[in-house]
Amino acid sequence: MDWMKTYHEDHKSVLILLAKFTGNVMDLKAGLSTPNTFVEFREFADIINNVIIPHFKNEETNVYREVSKTGPAGADFVAKMLREHEELYTLFDTYVTAVEAQDSAAIIEISSRLDHILRHHIMKEEDHLPSFLK
Ligand SMILES: [Fe+2]
Ligand SMILES: [Fe+2]
Repeated sequence: MDWMKTYHEDHKSVLILLAKFTGNVMDLKAGLSTPNTFVEFREFADIINNVIIPHFKNEETNVYREVSKTGPAGADFVAKMLREHEELYTLFDTYVTAVEAQDSAAIIEISSRLDHILRHHIMKEEDHLPSFLK
């Protein structure tokens, strides 16, 4: 299926960018950041707005609806995924605001939650979601 290709490819790209993001946060914590670190933080904010949020919206109106229709287990899984989307929308908003303000402390403060929740969300979608649609 065509949407499945974009689905997996977005996930793979975001996991790679998250690793880079975590590395940049480590530099920031160690006082080793350069002007390029902030260029990359801004690029990650652009990815959030232009790739990740549209990807979430697309899941909410397409694949999540399909999974919900498969039965109670599917509906529970989707409810959990939707709660994570809500939590992540809030974190994205905080992150983008912090990057715009070049607020290093705020970036550091939310970075591990953002990394942890987004990474595990993607892993759950990769490991469990496709099994509902077989
Ligand atoms: Fe999702
Ligand atoms: Fe996803």
